[in-house]
Amino acid sequence: MCGIIGYIGERKACEVIVKGLKRLEYRGYDSVGVVTEEKGKLYVKKGVGSVDEVVEKLKLLEMPGKRGVGHTRWATHGVPNDINAHPQRDCTGKIALVHNGIIENFAELKEELIRKGHRFESDTDTEVIAHLIEEELKSSGNFEDALRRALLKLKGSFALGVVYTEEPDRLYFVRNESPLVLGIGKGEMFAASDVPAFLEYTNKVVFLDDMEYAIVTKNSWVVKRLETGEKVEKEIRTIDWTLEMAEKSGFPHFMLKEIFEQPRVLRDAIHGNAKVVSEVAREIADYDKIFIVAMGTSYHAALVGKYLFQRLAKKVPIVEDASEFRYEFEDLVDENSLVIAITQSGETADTLAAMKLAKRKGAKVLAIVNVVGSMATRIADLTLYTHAGPEIGVAATKTYTTQLAVLTMLAIELARILKTENRERLDELEEDLRKLPGLVEEILKMNESLLELAKDLKEKRDFFYIGRGIGVPTALEGALKLKEISYIHAEGLSAGELKHGPLALIEEGVPVVAVAPNGKTFDKMLSNIEEAKARGAYIISLGSSERLREVSDVFIEMPKLNELLTPIPYIVPLQLLAYHLAVLRGNNPDKPRNLAKSVTVE
Ligand code: AGP
Repeated sequence: MCGIIGYIGERKACEVIVKGLKRLEYRGYDSVGVVTEEKGKLYVKKGVGSVDEVVEKLKLLEMPGKRGVGHTRWATHGVPNDINAHPQRDCTGKIALVHNGIIENFAELKEELIRKGHRFESDTDTEVIAHLIEEELKSSGNFEDALRRALLKLKGSFALGVVYTEEPDRLYFVRNESPLVLGIGKGEMFAASDVPAFLEYTNKVVFLDDMEYAIVTKNSWVVKRLETGEKVEKEIRTIDWTLEMAEKSGFPHFMLKEIFEQPRVLRDAIHGNAKVVSEVAREIADYDKIFIVAMGTSYHAALVGKYLFQRLAKKVPIVEDASEFRYEFEDLVDENSLVIAITQSGETADTLAAMKLAKRKGAKVLAIVNVVGSMATRIADLTLYTHAGPEIGVAATKTYTTQLAVLTMLAIELARILKTENRERLDELEEDLRKLPGLVEEILKMNESLLELAKDLKEKRDFFYIGRGIGVPTALEGALKLKEISYIHAEGLSAGELKHGPLALIEEGVPVVAVAPNGKTFDKMLSNIEEAKARGAYIISLGSSERLREVSDVFIEMPKLNELLTPIPYIVPLQLLAYHLAVLRGNNPDKPRNLAKSVTVE
C-alpha cells in the first residue's frame, strides 16, 4: 500500500520522481524518500510527512543524478519515522531499494543476517531485502543473480525498485503480488505502482506479472522470470488515459472531481461494454452455482448485483466478503461454480486470494475491474472493465456506479439469454439505463443544497442509513462513505432491522437517511420511517413520492425510475453529503486517516 516510482534517462531524476510521488500519494502518505545516483555515488533523502513537506524540508529537488527511485509509504512494519522511510540500504551502502508489500518471513531472515554480521538501522521488513542481496552478492559476484537468489528466499508480497552503484546504467524492478508497471519512453524508462505516476511522459506500458523482474536502462528493457532468470515476452500496451484525467481538473479534491465525472464515465461504461457483455453473458449463462466476492464498496456493488441477478435472471448468487470467502467456501467451490470478483483496483489482496482459490478449484472466474492489466484481470478467465478512468480519491465513487452499470447490463443480458423476463421489459430497462448518465447530471446540480444540508448536520455524532430490498446496499454504501471520510459514526442497515435493536439508539435529532424509491417495499419503508420519526429522528429521505416528502424533514427528490435502476442515481447525493461533511469538519477526503486506496495486504 505504498507507492513506487523509478526513472532512468536524461532528465533530472529527482524531478520526475517527485512529480510521480505526488500522483502516487494516495497509495500511502506517512513518509517519503528518494534515492538518486551520480558517478557511482548514491544520494538518499527520506523523512516523515507528505510529499510536499518532505520535498521542501529535505530539498528533494536538488538531488543530482539521472536515475533513481522514490517511495511514498503506508507503514506496515515499523512506525512512520525518518529511519523507517524508504529507501532502505545494505551495509555497504551500494544497494538502495524501495518496497511496496509485506515480507512475512522477515524476522527469521533478519536474525540470520544479524548472525552473519549485518547491521540493521530500521524496524522495517524492507531492509532485510537489501542485506539479503548484499549477502548473496558475496558468493555470486553477479548482481542480477544475487537479486534473484535473495528474492526467492522471501515469503510475502513485494514490488521493488532497486539501485546498485556498481551498475550505473540500469535499474531493477520486481513484482510479486504488489502492482508494478513499466513506462516505455524514448531514451528514458519509468516504472511505478500505477500508471498516472509517469503518464505525463509516456502512455506505453508493460505490466509485470507475479514473480517477474525487469532490468531497465535508458534505451532498453527486458522482463525475466524470477525463478529461472529466463526472458519473458511482454506486450507493450497503450493506455488511453490523459494526464488531465489523472489530475484534479480544477476541483478542490479528487473525490469531488470523481463524483462529477460520473455522467461521463457511466456513458463510457455502458458504451464500452455494449458488445462484450453479451459475449460474457453467453459464457456464464449456464452456471447456477454463483458466488460474488469483493471488499468494501465493491462488496456493496456485489450486493446490488445479487438483487439484479435474482430479479432479472432468476439466479441466486451467494455474495461473500472476499476475506471470508477463502475460508468459508473452500470446500464448496468447484468446476461447476462461477465466481464473479468485483474490484476497482484489481489489486485488493483478499479479492485476489479468493480468485486464486476459485481458479485452483476449477471454477470459472469473471472479474469486473477498473484498472486495465491489473492482477485480477490476469487471474480471471473473463474480464469486464468499468472504464471509469483512474480513481485517485481513496473513497470509491465513480468506480462504484460504473460497477453497478456493468452488473445491470450483465443481469439484463443474462435474462435475455435465459428468457427469464419479458423481452420488452428488458429493452425498456436497458433504454432507461442509458438515460441514467443524464439523470446523474441533473442530480449533481443539487451539490449546493447538499452543502447547505451538510452545514446543518456537521455537529451530529451518529447517522443511520436505512433501506429495503435493492435499497439496502445503497444504505450500506452511504454509511461507508460517511464514516470513512468524515469520521462520523454511521450505520447502514435494512429498515426492517431497526426495530430489532438499533431503534434504541434513536433519540431527538439523530439523522436517519432513508433510501426509499417507489417499489414493492415502499409502504413498509414509510412505516419504518414513521417509527424512527416517532422517536425524534431527523428524517432525510431520498425518493420520488409525495407521501415520502410529507413525512421527511429533508426530502431529496430523485427521478421516478424502475427500482432496479435506483442504486446508481441514489448514491450520488449520499457521496456529495459525505464529501461536504468531511470538508466542513476539516478532513481531507482524498486521504482519510488509516486508509489506503488499494488494500494490497490481507
Ligand atoms: C471505499 O471507498 C474504499 N476505497 C474501499 O472500501 C474499497 O472499495 C475496497 O478496498 C475494495 O477495493 P477494490 O475495489 O479496489 O478491490
